[in-house]
Amino acid sequence: MIIIHAIDDLRASLANARKAGKTIGFVPTMGALHDGHLSLVRQCKRENDVCVVSIYVNPTQFNDNNDLRSYPRTLAKDCELLEPAGCDFVFAPSDDEMYPVPDTRIFAFGPVACVMEGAHRPGHFNGVAQIVSKLLDAVEPENAYFGEKDFQQVAVIRALVRQLHIPLNVIACPIVREADGLAMSSRNARLSPEQRHFAPAIARTLKESLIFASQTSVHEVASRVIKTLNDIPCMRVEYYEIVDGHTLQPVKEWDETDYPVGCIAVFCGDVRLIDNIKYEF
Ligand code: PAJ
Repeated sequence: MIIIHAIDDLRASLANARKAGKTIGFVPTMGALHDGHLSLVRQCKRENDVCVVSIYVNPTQFNDNNDLRSYPRTLAKDCELLEPAGCDFVFAPSDDEMYPVPDTRIFAFGPVACVMEGAHRPGHFNGVAQIVSKLLDAVEPENAYFGEKDFQQVAVIRALVRQLHIPLNVIACPIVREADGLAMSSRNARLSPEQRHFAPAIARTLKESLIFASQTSVHEVASRVIKTLNDIPCMRVEYYEIVDGHTLQPVKEWDETDYPVGCIAVFCGDVRLIDNIKYEF
């Protein structure tokens, strides 16, 4: 496994692989890697000759400076995890490398990026689009892997790829969870023992809602999920929306969509966690 910091070096290494007819797969991350990230890396290596993983805490996608400052940075440990998972190249650039000049681009993806995370984290998806477009330009992969934990992010990336005509397969990978159901996240490390104790209620409540969803209205299901979680000490639901999984637009009736997905953001103390669930009847 080779660790690269400069875009030019990355391009030169990948040009050799490409000339040799190898397929290139890419997993963008912000590091502090856990098994959720590693599942993407393993799938990438299974499906491509060369697996590239980027580790870069992208400042332009953080709308909360505290969150950016406290985001865990563990490059040495991340590299130890990446090698056995099948990564060939780690791309770990500096801020100057990625943003030699300020990125003034403003993306507009329409309704898909305006709801939920888009509404509650102004500028977040613009920052994601800025960095992902730069990374895809540097790596030029055939396949790129994204986790469904960030369900809306996958839809926004698909919109970006369509808008910029990027020749890329966007591959969505299932959520990896802790044994108690909590969706793995780099932010889980910031939970206090008490918050960590209560956090699995998020996934549990979503899963329980599957049981009564078929006999209950969309509104009632969402209200019950929100109330159950808000009744737990230290938890505050920011939103729970049941949406069409393709357009990310909220639905009022189950039969409005063939792909209902419930997406949640919850503050557990000051740690913001997201999760989602697919309703299948
Ligand atoms: P990050 O939060 O590090 O996540 C990197 C990738 O890992 C994302 O595609 C995310 O959805 C996926 N992932 C995280 N936790 C997961 C889990 N429990 N199960 C499955 N996949 C999981 O998402 C980002 O970074 C950034 O926005 C990025 C795309 C790198 C742009 O900066």
